[in-house]
Formats: sequence, C-alpha cells, structure tokens
Amino acid sequence: MEIIKEIHQDILDRNICLIPTMGALHDGHLSLIKEAEKTSCLTMVSIFVNKRQFNDEADFKNYPKTIENDIKVLDNLDIDYLFLPKNNYIYPEAGFIEINSGNLGKNFEGHSRPGHFDGVLTVVNRLFELIQPQVAIFGKKDAQQLFLIKEMIIKKNIEVKILEGLTFRDKFGLALSSRNQLLSARGKEKARLLYKILNEAKKDFLQNREFLVFKKFSSIYSNDDLKIDYLEILDLETFHTPVDNTENYIIIIAAYIDGIRLIDNIEFRLEKL
Ligand code: PAJ
Repeated sequence: MEIIKEIHQDILDRNICLIPTMGALHDGHLSLIKEAEKTSCLTMVSIFVNKRQFNDEADFKNYPKTIENDIKVLDNLDIDYLFLPKNNYIYPEAGFIEINSGNLGKNFEGHSRPGHFDGVLTVVNRLFELIQPQVAIFGKKDAQQLFLIKEMIIKKNIEVKILEGLTFRDKFGLALSSRNQLLSARGKEKARLLYKILNEAKKDFLQNREFLVFKKFSSIYSNDDLKIDYLEILDLETFHTPVDNTENYIIIIAAYIDGIRLIDNIEFRLEKL
C-alpha cells in the first residue's frame, strides 16, 4: 500500500476505485473495501476528517481520530493507495467549488446539522475532481448522504460509477459507526434499540399503512437515555413522503444516546396490491 498526500498524473492514468472515509476504521468500512476488491480497479481508501461537514466545532474535536491504527488495519488488506490529504490540498486558497445540497440537504440529517450535506458534497466532489475515479463506493448506512451524492453525480454529469455497500451490523443489529467508539458500554447496549425501533416501525406500517410513526415511537422509546430526533418512512426513490404507488421504502432514524448522535435505516419493498 502506497501512502500518498497528493494526486499526480500516474494516478490519473489508472483505473481507481475510491472508498472515501473519515477514518476511525471499523468493519463497516472494511466491508466496503471488500466490495472494491471485487472490481478490476486499483483500490484507494481516503481518510480525511472533513471539517466543513461538521456544523458543531465540539463534534469535530471529539470525532475519533485513530490514524496510526487505521494505517495498520489497511496495511493488512489488499489496498493499492491510502490517500491522506492535508486540509489546504483539499481546500486550496486559490478556490474550490462549493456544492449546495438543495432542499433535501436541509431535511432530516440536514435539519439537525445545518450545512452538513453542503460540506459532504463539497468534499466528495473535490475528491472526484482530484482523483477522477472510475468507481466510488459508499455505504447505505448513510442513506441520505448516498442519495444526495447520486443526485449530484447526475446533475453535474460526473463520470463515476457508484457502488452501494450494505449496512454492516454487529450480532445485536447495531450498525457499525465510528461514533460507536464514543459510547459507554451501557450506551452501546442502548444503541441496539435503533434497529429494533426501525423493525417495529416497519411492522407497524405494514399493519396500519400509517407512515407518521415518530410520535408513537417517541412516546414509547424516548427518555433521558435515548432521544429520537427523527423517525421517518420515506419513498426510497425520492426521499420524500411515500405516495400511493411507492414500492420501495426506507425508514430512517436519528437518535442521541449519551449525547452521541447515531443514525440508521432499513429498506423494504412493498408489492403493489
Ligand atoms: P465515514 O463516516 O467514515 O464513512 C465512510 C463510508 O463508510 C461511507 O460511505 C459510509 O456510508 C460507510 N459506512 C459507515 N458505516 C458503515 C456500516 N456500518 N456499513 C457499511 N458502510 C458503512 O461518510 C463519511 O465518512 C463522510 O461523510 C465522507 C463520505 C467520507 C465524506 O467526508
């Protein structure tokens, strides 16, 4: 594995499959890397804790940074490049394109984290511009992020194929996340409730066909230890409220546990009656 801090012509001459991350690597990230190894491209993992996508300074400071361990983990895998850019390489004084994530960027995650998706799209666009990968892999765990990235690629006509990695969970259903490292042992146990709530909301919806589930589930599950921020049943194709002929659904949740914000989602299909 070659560690690079800048992109030179030799990289641009190759077919690259990019897996962008913010480090603090876990098995969810590694599952994306395994997908990359199935492609015929050279694999590049990027680690860049993108300050622009943190609306809260304290959240940026507290975000786990484990670069030495990350390098060790990656060294044991079959990866061609680790891209570790400096902030002023990604965001040069000479300027860079700032991406606006539009209305959807202000909803759900974006509502609670103003500017978050503008920051995500700006860095992802910049990485694409610098690296010009043939393929890029993102996880379904961050469903709204994935949706907005796919929308940006279409709008801007960016030539990159997006592969989507399934959400990697532990045996209790907890979706792996770098932020899980910030939870206490008890917090981790409580965090399993997110997947339980998602599955119960799905069951509830299949029985009652009522998609306004936030109030109902907040009254059951929200307390001092766990605070549900949103719980929404959406049309997976539009990320909007489902309509009569919606077939593919997604339920998204965000909750605070020990003051740590966690997100998760499940998808399901409903055949038309
Ligand atoms: P980060 O949270 O480090 O996640 C990097 C990639 O790993 C994302 O595509 C995310 O969806 C995926 N991922 C995280 N947890 C996962 C899990 N349990 N199963 C499968 N995939 C998982 O997402 C970001 O970084 C940043 O916003 C980034 C796209 C790198 C832009 O800064």
